[in-house]
Amino acid sequence: MSTNEHSKVLLINGPNLNMIGTREPQIYGYTTLPELETQLTHKAGELQLALSCFQSNIEGEIINQIHKAKSENIDVILINPGAYTHTSIAIRDAFLSVDIPFIEIHISNVFAREPFRHHSYLSDIASGILVGHGLFGYELGLYRAKNIVSSRSSKT
Ligand code: DQA
Repeated sequence: MSTNEHSKVLLINGPNLNMIGTREPQIYGYTTLPELETQLTHKAGELQLALSCFQSNIEGEIINQIHKAKSENIDVILINPGAYTHTSIAIRDAFLSVDIPFIEIHISNVFAREPFRHHSYLSDIASGILVGHGLFGYELGLYRAKNIVSSRSSKT
């Protein structure tokens, strides 16, 4: 890959994450999703990554987006699957079918919450997991995405 070609990162936010800013602000904070996406797009540019953002409350739409990422040559996916983390074998299968490295992100520390949030259908197949860092976890995810694409291109 030439040095001025940005690697492609897709951010997927799952159900109810369109409500951050007003949803349980003691857990998820006061920043809205559009504000977060704007901040991350700026940060991605600094890291020479091209970020696209997608949010859906619908499991099948998230699966379709993961499939589409393959044909769009997305290099890394960052995903906060919301409650689908704890329920969705179908999203797990979607990741297994595209073979794109992905990072699982949770704003809250799910391990300090209800027991049903302790299990993830994705963590064991993720390239990494960022849990409980608040919205900064997404920025950390961008750094890790950069690290993944850099270490890959240094091997080619
Ligand atoms: C979440 C944690 C999930 O358990 C929950 O259902 C969410 C958000 C988080 O970012 O902390 O919707 O993924």
